[in-house]
Amino acid sequence: MRSLLELQALDRQHYLHPFSDHRLIAERGTRVISRGEGVYIYDSEGRQILDGMSGLWCVSLGYGRRELIDAARRQLETLPYYNSFFQCTHPPAIELAALLAEVAPPGFSRVFYTNSGSEANDTVIRMLRHYWDLQGQPARKIIISRRNAYHGSTIGGMSLGGMPAQQAQGDLPIPGIVHIGQPYCFELGAGLHPDEFGLRAAGELEQQILALGPERVAAFIGEPVQGAGGVIIPPDSYWPEIQRICDQYGILLVADEVITGFGRLGEWFGSQYYDIEPDLVIFAKAVNGGYLPLGGVLVGDRVGDALVAGGGEFFHGFTQSGNPVACAVAIAALQVMQAEGIVERVRERIAPYFAARWQTLAAHPLVGEARSVGLLGALELVADQASRRRFPAELRIGETCRDTSIELGLVMRHVRDSLIVAPPLVITEAQVDELVDKARRTLDSVGSQLQRHA
Ligand SMILES: Cc1ncc(COP(=O)(O)O)c(C=O)c1O
Repeated sequence: MRSLLELQALDRQHYLHPFSDHRLIAERGTRVISRGEGVYIYDSEGRQILDGMSGLWCVSLGYGRRELIDAARRQLETLPYYNSFFQCTHPPAIELAALLAEVAPPGFSRVFYTNSGSEANDTVIRMLRHYWDLQGQPARKIIISRRNAYHGSTIGGMSLGGMPAQQAQGDLPIPGIVHIGQPYCFELGAGLHPDEFGLRAAGELEQQILALGPERVAAFIGEPVQGAGGVIIPPDSYWPEIQRICDQYGILLVADEVITGFGRLGEWFGSQYYDIEPDLVIFAKAVNGGYLPLGGVLVGDRVGDALVAGGGEFFHGFTQSGNPVACAVAIAALQVMQAEGIVERVRERIAPYFAARWQTLAAHPLVGEARSVGLLGALELVADQASRRRFPAELRIGETCRDTSIELGLVMRHVRDSLIVAPPLVITEAQVDELVDKARRTLDSVGSQLQRHA
């Protein structure tokens, strides 16, 4: 076994990390995570850390689930790889497709597999264009997305996303994608009732459609709750109005459920939580508890029937589309969720408990808002609660809190000046208490550091 120092040196020399500032990594060093069990991860020094982010929103069933590990081993022994090109297929991809159709909202009979959420977003761009061509409406090519959305980091995914600093690298977005505002009430809705703000934010879609000409618009895409953008929970009025607008102008609705899929909001899919009926649902991450790369698109029958009836090859797919081991683990994960009633447990027990406990943080002087939905939570960090004044940017308050939190044994993530959590769905009440207690101690600790330096 290599020592921690050796590992860190090799890491610095050879490994270009995703979404990382490599000069900063070299200066500050890295934390090596070497093991996971239940809702906890352990670093190379054996420190136990509560994983408040489920890895990257994906380890929904916790670490070390025997059923998932056994399913992977069995499938590796039986058929570790085969593809679904050229009229071939294999049992895990078929069984999973049928199981996904069972847990998906009605009207989703088919699935297209990818290896990630980013690839699934790219798949949607290609599928939408193909669909509208088949419909004899080739002018319908524009996809409307939102600012501060995250849809992955491939060229298509990042173009759909709405993060200007990220898009500036590589001259994105690609043509044919336009962005409207986001339903971020805390930041943008001051003085308005949330429902009024929600209608106003959704109304931007209608204005954009009319400005572009409805006959040129292919679809609207949105995350039911923006995750990477900072757990932006839309007002209740938002999604029904988006649905109405899509229906009125005949444009397709795409829900990117890479985070909200598979129980995160206490329903199988976030679309069900918000009572919307998308035409395409993008998934990845928790489909197999995050244990192996797998993503895809649940294809609603309006599009799926047209693709099949239209005939002709859809020139799209990946060597590892529907990898048998990744699919076998997904089958095991979905079966565990069904057998243990995990979605119902989140809805009826853990999410309400989490919401009540998370809300107690709202009283903390550093917190301008504590919000949650299902097992997603966010804290807006402010210098002054009454005026919602933010801290000076150079204080990097979000990052400071994130680092302190990890020191105190809890993974939280920061997005600008907010802290977010998305714990595993199997978290217990006692562990929710631990999470909230550590979050409070983080705020206390950073609060007293600020006072010392004032
Ligand atoms: C909503 C959403 N879409 C797409 C992606 C990209 O998924 P992946 O990292 O698997 O490519 C993410 C990742 O966090 C996401 O949150």
